[in-house]
Amino acid sequence: MSTHRTFTMIKPDATGAGHTGKIIDRIIEAGFTIKAMKWTRLSLEDAQAFYGVHAERPFFGELTEYMSSAPIVAAILEKDDAVADFRTLIGATNPAEAAPGTIRADFAESIAANAVHGSDSDENAAIEGSFFFSQRELA
Ligand code: RTP
Ligand code: MG
Repeated sequence: MSTHRTFTMIKPDATGAGHTGKIIDRIIEAGFTIKAMKWTRLSLEDAQAFYGVHAERPFFGELTEYMSSAPIVAAILEKDDAVADFRTLIGATNPAEAAPGTIRADFAESIAANAVHGSDSDENAAIEGSFFFSQRELA
């Protein structure tokens, strides 16, 4: 076990529904340290760049339009085993399959509007974090 960082976004459905504070509380209560955080909004071009790895997936258009439809909160989080532990905390992509008590089970609306993003590897956490934050912005 080692200390790692992960990257998260609180997605437009959750910021719009007023769940931002409750989700941040869950993240802190689970033992993550916030290293950087910002309330911001993606343009469609930003979302297409961020999700470029999914460009060939059938849901790419829906995903990028949705992610640029309203504000998001972007954050870099630190904890032992951050990437794996954060994905456990948020639950499965489809909230109907997310374990009880996970963030997606409690706050997500659908497989597309699923409340939060969590990086899937240390490498992608670093890439995604640097999409939003400079080294100077890290606590
Ligand atoms: P994320 O990257 O947001 O943490 O989600 P994930 O790893 O659980 O899922 P991923 O396969 O990376 O998909 C990225 C996001 O695309 C949307 N999606 N929509 N309509 C669909 O069938 C569908 N499938 C995926 C979700 O917003 C998902 O989080
Ligand atoms: Mg993913």
